[in-house]
Amino acid sequence: MTADEQQFIIQDITQMLARHWHDVDRNWGRNAHLDYTPDGSYATSLRKRTGIEAIKAFYADRQDRGERVARHLVNNLHVTVHDANTATAIWILSLFAADGVPVLPSKPAIMIADVVDELVRESDGAWKYRSRTITPLFRAPRPIGWISTMSAAGQVNLAPFSHFNIVSTSPPVLIFSCNSPEDRPEKDTLVNVKATGEFVFNLVSYDLREAMNVTSTAAPHGVDEFELAKLEKAACVKVCPPRVAASPANLVCRLLLEKKIAPVAKGDTPSNVVFGRVVGLHIQDQFFDGAGRFDTVKAQPLTRLRGIQYAPPGPIEVMPQPFKRAAETKREAS
Ligand SMILES: Cc1cc2nc3c(=O)[nH]c(=O)nc-3n(C[C@H](O)[C@H](O)[C@H](O)COP(=O)(O)O)c2cc1C
Repeated sequence: MTADEQQFIIQDITQMLARHWHDVDRNWGRNAHLDYTPDGSYATSLRKRTGIEAIKAFYADRQDRGERVARHLVNNLHVTVHDANTATAIWILSLFAADGVPVLPSKPAIMIADVVDELVRESDGAWKYRSRTITPLFRAPRPIGWISTMSAAGQVNLAPFSHFNIVSTSPPVLIFSCNSPEDRPEKDTLVNVKATGEFVFNLVSYDLREAMNVTSTAAPHGVDEFELAKLEKAACVKVCPPRVAASPANLVCRLLLEKKIAPVAKGDTPSNVVFGRVVGLHIQDQFFDGAGRFDTVKAQPLTRLRGIQYAPPGPIEVMPQPFKRAAETKREAS
């Protein structure tokens, strides 16, 4: 292929990309699906849509959500021409979007993502996307709640949830959230917690990352993910579900409250937030520091970045608080 032919292809693909996003931002993406091959795919960190009809439905759905501002900025486009009929475009997407009201000028982009487009030229000469993969960048690390439960019939279940945190220390309360699965009305974890009112948080140390991943399998109700991941169980104080024996720490919980986050727009999926009161605690002896406190650094909790990216905690910083607590001031005064 001559340099000129390559340049023409790059020009075609660049123009197509601009036209495509113009349609998405200013015409509800009514024609966006036509830029894909019949079996083309469009994948984000959340979902993969395969086939032109699924992509068409995605854009139709966005229009149904009503008045909306969205601007997709294509940056640093790099096209590699493999031959006369195939090419790859790699670029960075900045997405500014808001529902209903216009975006304030000071609002940052809601997403910066790497995009890889695989393109093919069809027999009529038109370039089409065979696949588009959008990988969002810069998500903050999140802790992971590895939740063990038991069904009313005594079947054990274990699954990870990164919509998780401790929300009160006195009394100690933690939350995790189950979104709605596509294949059944509710995840097993939620079914079990609602039926028994009990669950256990197991800390995922960096060493347990692969076992944790295995337990996220959408296994049929009744399948014991401890067995799938070859994890040893240990009994808990105060509740029936077992804990992960290899976990540095486990928090034993009773259901306090369950709150449904209802969809507000078409395409939203409901989530159920579970609040659990911590009623018991297991800590392995080797994770106590010299002062008798839990040594989080030694436990190396795994964090989730985006999608399937995970990391151990980064460098540890010690930062004294810039103010004195009331109790400290009182102690110094007496
Ligand atoms: C690291 C990680 C974090 C996850 N976080 C969540 C979450 O916050 N909410 C959720 O509904 N599913 C989450 N999932 C998916 C569930 O673990 C998965 O749907 C699992 O099959 C549910 O199991 P269950 O049906 O046995 O309860 C996560 C998966 C992984 C690997």
